[in-house]
Amino acid sequence: MRPAILVTRATFPDIADRLRQHFDVTDNPGDTVLSPAELTDRLQGKQGVMSTGSERIDAALLDACPQLKAVCNVGVGYNNVDVAACTARGVLVTNTPDVLTETTADFGFALMMATARRIAEAERFVRRGEWTKTGIYDQFAGGDVYGATLGILGMGRIGQAIARRGAVGFGMRVIYHNRSRLAPELEDGSQAEYVDKDTLLREADHLVLVLPYSPQSHHAIGANELAMMKPTATLTNIARGGIVDDAALAAALRAGTIAAAGLDVFEGEPRVHPDLLEVPNIVLTPHIGSASVRTRRAMAQLTADNLVAALGHGPNAGRPLTPVNPQVLLS
Ligand code: DGY
Repeated sequence: MRPAILVTRATFPDIADRLRQHFDVTDNPGDTVLSPAELTDRLQGKQGVMSTGSERIDAALLDACPQLKAVCNVGVGYNNVDVAACTARGVLVTNTPDVLTETTADFGFALMMATARRIAEAERFVRRGEWTKTGIYDQFAGGDVYGATLGILGMGRIGQAIARRGAVGFGMRVIYHNRSRLAPELEDGSQAEYVDKDTLLREADHLVLVLPYSPQSHHAIGANELAMMKPTATLTNIARGGIVDDAALAAALRAGTIAAAGLDVFEGEPRVHPDLLEVPNIVLTPHIGSASVRTRRAMAQLTADNLVAALGHGPNAGRPLTPVNPQVLLS
């Protein structure tokens, strides 16, 4: 009998068709977000799932779906999946690294620039019909990017790609902090200098967050950290909601503790903290860091390749390309 799988959200029709060559596929072309109960229900009898950050895959779900063998998540981040619970039950988890690195770095840099140069604020001003004279003094004057100090918290592949853009393209001094310092050749390639977190907060003109979410990184940027930053500094979060204390950030933006923020990710998204909606000096985007047409397709393709291989089909049968818990393959 062919394995059965669930594709939790809408995907490219040809990729769904490819999955149908190997599996009985239940998909979701209407792209509704499944509640935990709906997810449990639709996963009954399924051996694999193509999941996204919208679904929580935890121990209770795994226990209710004992046939599940592979959780193939669309995204490099997988904080929606309890990997330890999966590993303990022999369930393979995969993600989509590499294919999105440069696209997400482009977006992080764009959001940082839009934040520094107040592009969203200025655009809203024009749309409201308030532009009556061209200013030459301080109208929407922001902070420079070229030659400024770029701070990066979390120096994985995306962090390094942002560092290269800053150092090579914009003549920036690049400083970073990470759980572990990069190997010298990676530091050289990124033209980035390792500093402790306090130095990063104090010296960055533009701080970009690219670290994974975990209980340890929860509210890594809160009121105390914001108070350490320069009043002219900007903060950009393209990592995960929950790394920034959104209420504390809104208060800091109102008080002028920092100059501006750019957020692509939010605590409890798609809800946005109401205080953030009230402050002008912020750029808000709906978690689109990896959203170029080519990259979203590459992510879906890699996820499908992983799923086919994880369930023992295709040329890589038994050897998914990007496992998160490869130990499951050996057990
Ligand atoms: C990722 O790849 O982790 C993106 O944030 C999409 O979830």
